Amino acid sequence: MPSKIKAPTSQFVCSTCGYTAPKWLGKCPDCGNFNTMQEELVRPVETASPLRTGVSQIKTRALPLSKIGYEKFEREKSGIGEFDTVLGGGIVRGSLVLLGGDPGIGKSTLLTQVSAHLAQTKKVLYVSAEESCSQVKMRCDRLGLNSDNLLLLNETCLEDIETNLDGVEFVVIDSVQAIYTETLSSAAGSVGQVRECAAKLMRIAKSKNITFFIIGHVTKEGALAGPKVLEHIMDTVLYFEGQPEDNFKLLRAVKNRFGSAQEVGVFEMTGEGVKSVSDYSALFLSETRGVAAGSAVTPSESGNRCMSVEIQTLISRTAYGMPRRMSLGVDYNKLVVLIAVLEKRCGIPFFNADVYINAMGGIKLNEPSVDLAICAALASAASDVPIDKYTAVFGEVGLTGEIRPVTYAEKRVNECLKTGFKRVILPAKNLKACQKYADKIELIPVQYVGQMVKELGLRAATTKNE
Ligand SMILES: Nc1ncnc2c1ncn2[C@@H]1O[C@H](COP(=O)(O)OP(=O)(O)OP(=O)(O)O)[C@@H](O)[C@H]1O
Ligand SMILES: [Mg+2]
Repeated sequence: MPSKIKAPTSQFVCSTCGYTAPKWLGKCPDCGNFNTMQEELVRPVETASPLRTGVSQIKTRALPLSKIGYEKFEREKSGIGEFDTVLGGGIVRGSLVLLGGDPGIGKSTLLTQVSAHLAQTKKVLYVSAEESCSQVKMRCDRLGLNSDNLLLLNETCLEDIETNLDGVEFVVIDSVQAIYTETLSSAAGSVGQVRECAAKLMRIAKSKNITFFIIGHVTKEGALAGPKVLEHIMDTVLYFEGQPEDNFKLLRAVKNRFGSAQEVGVFEMTGEGVKSVSDYSALFLSETRGVAAGSAVTPSESGNRCMSVEIQTLISRTAYGMPRRMSLGVDYNKLVVLIAVLEKRCGIPFFNADVYINAMGGIKLNEPSVDLAICAALASAASDVPIDKYTAVFGEVGLTGEIRPVTYAEKRVNECLKTGFKRVILPAKNLKACQKYADKIELIPVQYVGQMVKELGLRAATTKNE
C-alpha cells in the first residue's frame, strides 16, 4: 500500500522576488540575491465547491452604506497624557499598537507604566519574553508601580501565551522578535516568525476584543526582521526616538487608523520613569539664541501641535578642494539646494566653506516651511551677524528665490506669540490669514529670500530678486 504523502507545512520564499522553494537556499535561483529565502507557513488553499457557485449559495452580500452600522470606539486613558495624544485621544479597545524603537530607549519602561495604570481597573497581562519576571518586578518597584491586576508572564511560545488570556483586556508583548509560533520551525525573530506571530495576534485581538501593545526592535539592517514588515497588519504604529544621551524622547505616530499619523509626543526619561513634557517649546531652543550667529527659530508643525524649533548652522573655511555639508535633523538635499539658492539669489558665497547644520533637540524637520529658517541661519552664519532673539521665521523657498506660502500659517504665528516672540517673518501670501495677530505681534511679509536677508540686517541682497 502506498504511504500517504504529507503536504508541506512551510515553504521558503525569496523576500526580494517572491520565488518559492521547498528547502532553504543560500542564493535565490531566480533573482540571484543571497540570504533572502525566508520560511513561511503554507496554508491549504480552499477549493470552491461546485455547489457554492449558484446565486442561492452566496453567504455574504454587499450592503448599501446606509444599512451599515458601527460601534463607537471605546477609548481608554493610559495615564500618560502625551501617550494618549499620540494615539489620537486614548487607547482604542481591540486594537494592535506597535511600539518600535532603538534598544534601551525606554519602550519597556513606557509600556510598564501604561500597564500599571490600566491595571487599576482592568486585567492586564505583561508578556516579558526578553527579561525575567523578577527584572520586570524590579522595574515596577523602581517606578513605584504595584497592582494585583497586572499579571507577568515570562514566555516565548505564542501558543502558550494564548492560554493565559482568560479575562485579560490588555496585553503587552515585549518583544515580538523574541516570541515564536510552533507552526514554523524557523528561529524567533526571523521575518516569517515575526509576520506569522503578528497575524495570529491580530486574529486574537479582533476575535476577543483584546488590545495588544507589541514592542518591536529596529534593526540596523533596514529593519528586515523588525517592525517594518508588520506595519500593514497593525492599527497603530509608534516609534520611540531620541538620542541615548538626551534626557527627552519623542514618540511619533507613523500610522494610525484611529487618529492623525502626524502626532508627536514629548517625554522625559527620569529615574521614576517616563514623564510627559507639556512645556515642550523650551526644549528646542538654546540659551545662546540672539547672541551667537548662525541660529534661527521656526515654528514647526507636526501632528496637531506646533513647536518652536531652533536651527543652528556653523560655517568654517574648507581645508580641502571639496567643501563639506553635514546635516542633522534636516534633509541633506534640502540643505544643498538652499545653499545654492542663497549663493545664486543673494550672492552669499559658500563654495569655499564647510557647512554644518543641526535642528536642536534631535527633532527631525521635514516640512517645507523650515526652508526660510534654514536660509536665515545660513545667512546669519555667513555674515557673522546674530539674528534677533525675538524674531521667528517660516516659509517655503523656491529655486527662483521666491517665498511660497505654507500650511497652518495662523497656528504658527500663534505658537510664536505663545513662546514670546515679538516679530515673525512670513510669506507675503500668508499675511492675510494671520492679520488677526497683527496687533499682538509684528508680522513682516516677504516675497523673496533676499528680502528676508535684508529684513534681518544680515547682508544686502545683490540680485534682481530683492
Ligand atoms: N535605575 C535606573 N535609574 C534611572 N533610569 C534608569 C534606570 N534603569 C534604567 N533606566 C533608564 O531606562 C532606560 C532603559 O529602559 P527600557 O529597558 O525600558 O528600554 P527598552 O527600550 O525596553 O530597552 P530594550 O531594547 O533593552 O528592551 C535606560 O536607557 C535608562 O535611561
Ligand atoms: Mg525592553
